Amino acid sequence: MKLCMIGTGYVGLVSGVCFSDLGNTVYCVDNNKEKINNLNNGKIPIYEPGLEEVLKKNYKQKRLIFTTNLKYAITNSDIIFICVGTPTKKNGYSADLKYVFQVARELKKYIKKYKIIITKSTVPVSTGDKIENILKNLKRKKLIDVVSNPEFLREGEAIRDFIYPDRVVIGSDSKKAIKKLKSLYLPIIKKTSRFFNTSRRGAELIKYASNAFLATKISYINEIANLCEKTGVDVKDVSLGMGLDQRIGDRFLRAGPAYGGSCFPKDTRAIVDTANSFKSNLSIIKSVIKSNNERKLILTKRVEKILNNKIKNKKITFLGVTFKPNTDDMREASSLFMIPKLHKKGAKIKYYDPSGIKKEFYKLKNVKFCNSVSSACIKSDLIIIHTEWNEFKSINFKKIVKKSKIIIFDMRNIYSPQKMKKDKINYLSIGR
Ligand code: UGA
Repeated sequence: MKLCMIGTGYVGLVSGVCFSDLGNTVYCVDNNKEKINNLNNGKIPIYEPGLEEVLKKNYKQKRLIFTTNLKYAITNSDIIFICVGTPTKKNGYSADLKYVFQVARELKKYIKKYKIIITKSTVPVSTGDKIENILKNLKRKKLIDVVSNPEFLREGEAIRDFIYPDRVVIGSDSKKAIKKLKSLYLPIIKKTSRFFNTSRRGAELIKYASNAFLATKISYINEIANLCEKTGVDVKDVSLGMGLDQRIGDRFLRAGPAYGGSCFPKDTRAIVDTANSFKSNLSIIKSVIKSNNERKLILTKRVEKILNNKIKNKKITFLGVTFKPNTDDMREASSLFMIPKLHKKGAKIKYYDPSGIKKEFYKLKNVKFCNSVSSACIKSDLIIIHTEWNEFKSINFKKIVKKSKIIIFDMRNIYSPQKMKKDKINYLSIGR
């Protein structure tokens, strides 16, 4: 099939590359010329394991086209995916849909024969109705169907999630569109996943309800971890014991720092805002947002307590600063809260992240990037494991720190407290 992905951000690029690998011709469009030039020169704007190889293979075979020419891409495609960003609006909770509606207005100019228009961007329930309203003349002439097909990819695991999805959700009541999309997804739905057809509004809400539920699971276990610390219980045992009940499941029950990323924080805010506009109160999700914000402060306070509230001139190391491993994404990472707070109190911070130096810390005088675990940890007063990159899972701290007193605060519960005790390392973790 001939597809067009509008927007080469995370969702658009990964889905476009993966669709081309299934044998489709995919036009990836972006209005950012530099990005398109880079992609045409094999430079990938995001860090995603495995993406580069698949992209280069399909680019060579001419199944993947990167262009800034929207008209050309639309005219040549049968199915158009809207994959532009829907960030939180400034000073509020609502999702900013200006890019989505801009695209809809552009589509209006170029569509002359039947096309399926799909929102893959995460959009509040009823956005599809608004897009259809912009395109009402085309709809009346039966030249379009507007469908919702939300994306459930995780950063760092995106290719695998695309090939082996738990479900493919299609929100539409058009038999023609559903049939065509079923055959587009056939190579992957034959595997394990379910092809689930529902209303357009239903599909839009499934996306938000899923992300908000996962965020709730994380905040829930984080609060249980606080209780574990007070009661001498290991939160890992609690997660496991709870998760053995198949109704609960143990995934997304890992306690840690506040959840971050480009999705959970933004989507929990947006669903609360959408509910408000429909005069519905999502009190649980509101509490999750509050709990997650407070978590950043709780953990920063804990760091201060570990150092007896004497932060000035203390050498603090951060291992990992991204919101999760296998990505270079810093959006809403809890390190963006902790590092400036500790820096302001006089700490001298060194950090190492396998995805490289971060511009977010350029302006902080005493925050320095190191290019290895050992150079970041040497002579440190406190080592904080902030992100669970594989590289941090078997470090010989005694060998690299070069100090008799080693303190580690492991925010991802990677190491065994018993083993650390044996090695005479002062080891603190989460909910244990
Ligand atoms: C999330 C969802 O998992 C995807 O299904 C969804 O498609 C995506 O948002 C999106 O809407 O685009 P992502 O933001 O890439 O994916 O990352 P996750 O793996 O879900 O992690 C989010 C945050 O939760 C991270 O900060 C991670 O460290 C934290 N987390 C996750 C925990 O603290 N504990 C856990 O048990 C799991």
